Amino acid sequence: MNELDTKRQNCEIIWSKYKQASLIHELEQENKGIISKNRTSTFVDNMQLPIHRWFRYSAGFSAEWVKEVVSDLKGNNAIKLFDPFVGSGTTVLAGEECGIESLGIEAHPFVARIAKAKLLWSEKVNAFRKFAMDVLQYAQSLSDAPDPYPNLIHRCYSEDILNELDQLRRAWLYKNDDSAVSELTWLALVGILRVTSSAGTAPWQYVLPNKTKKGTVRPYKAFYDRIRMMSRDMLYFQSVVKERKAKIFEDDARACSKIEDDSIDLIITSPPYTNNYDYADATRLEMSFFGEIKGWGDLQRKVRRLLVRSCSQHVSAEKNNLDRRLTDKNLYPIIEDIREVCHELEQERLLHGGRKTYHLMVAAYFSDLAKVWISLRKVCKKDARICFVVGDSAPYGIYVPVDKWLGELAISAGFESYYFEKTRDRNVKWKNRKHKVPLHEGRLWVEG
Ligand SMILES: C[S@@+](CC[C@H](N)C(=O)[O-])C[C@H]1O[C@@H](n2cnc3c(N)ncnc32)[C@H](O)[C@@H]1O
Repeated sequence: MNELDTKRQNCEIIWSKYKQASLIHELEQENKGIISKNRTSTFVDNMQLPIHRWFRYSAGFSAEWVKEVVSDLKGNNAIKLFDPFVGSGTTVLAGEECGIESLGIEAHPFVARIAKAKLLWSEKVNAFRKFAMDVLQYAQSLSDAPDPYPNLIHRCYSEDILNELDQLRRAWLYKNDDSAVSELTWLALVGILRVTSSAGTAPWQYVLPNKTKKGTVRPYKAFYDRIRMMSRDMLYFQSVVKERKAKIFEDDARACSKIEDDSIDLIITSPPYTNNYDYADATRLEMSFFGEIKGWGDLQRKVRRLLVRSCSQHVSAEKNNLDRRLTDKNLYPIIEDIREVCHELEQERLLHGGRKTYHLMVAAYFSDLAKVWISLRKVCKKDARICFVVGDSAPYGIYVPVDKWLGELAISAGFESYYFEKTRDRNVKWKNRKHKVPLHEGRLWVEG
């Protein structure tokens, strides 16, 4: 009997009813420990929390903090929570834990699929485990025959690691019956792609094939451990959440077409920042592995064009048409200020080798966010409360007062008031930073 077979046998014993009860207790204690170790709920790392930890993504805030905001507002009332940039689903999962109806939309198709799969935590644990173990067993019986993968994948994995991953992928494809447990198994496979890669990952999620990291895990073992971790988390959530009340849609925050008008009491969200981070690129590794994209062109066509324009790649293909961009009537409340900043950026870029199109990016970003505010006004009730977790930025060292401009655009869309609560300073620590403009991050509260 090999090591995995022995583990598998032990696992069957562990999942008896008696063991389940003590596991839940153990997890409760673990969670309490994690939360009390962190000074405030704001900074509890989601990657330590059940279900949240199934996929690493830059959430922008902690699920524990969301729960606090919800309970402050909720009292005994039934409220409806919404996140228009739901990403990996932090807000809606926290909403479910609070027992309220929670909705989220996400425009990145792959990220939306991940978030939706996380909401399948209420499926039968033993059915999920059986399906996933069948996939693992079948994978082990397959021969080495890696399909041709994009170059990025070959640069991220050694041949033998890729063989195991490929066997798992082919086994999942063979067994896939479009059931919920199959989707959870897909997510388990998605979730091991980083830990099994020897390529470096930046503090954010980009993959850096030229940097290597130590301590990678073999795919079969990583997959097995993940099934176990996911099963434990499912049991825990099933013991604390009594009713499934969360939904995630693939949709555009600039339209919110899947959300009923005048229905939302509370919004907690973190939109993309104007900091040139490319969310399309964030899942390049995973989408390449599953054959969903082959290169930059696919990423642009299948993902980037669907997102709020928050990085220069979004606008690089467009002609230098700043003045036309600034005629967007939704920008009128901030037009004097934004015109000045964008023209300054247009001049500044000529002094830099990369000649990044930040001037177009900033104009496009605020046009997009103006549309978001208009659609949020439509779906929010009259006395709704909204929190945008945002940071300002200074491309090429030119300051963009993001929270102030977003606040002004919210008022122009019909909300009553806004104020900004700073939570931390940014760009003050690093010696080799690109510019010295002090930046901050915090919560933009909008009401009315
Ligand atoms: C800061 S992240 C949100 C992370 C989230 N709080 C979480 O828990 O993972 C911003 C998200 O907005 C998404 N996004 C970008 N443009 C969008 C759009 N037009 N509509 C909806 N979502 C969009 C990005 O794909 C990204 O996942």
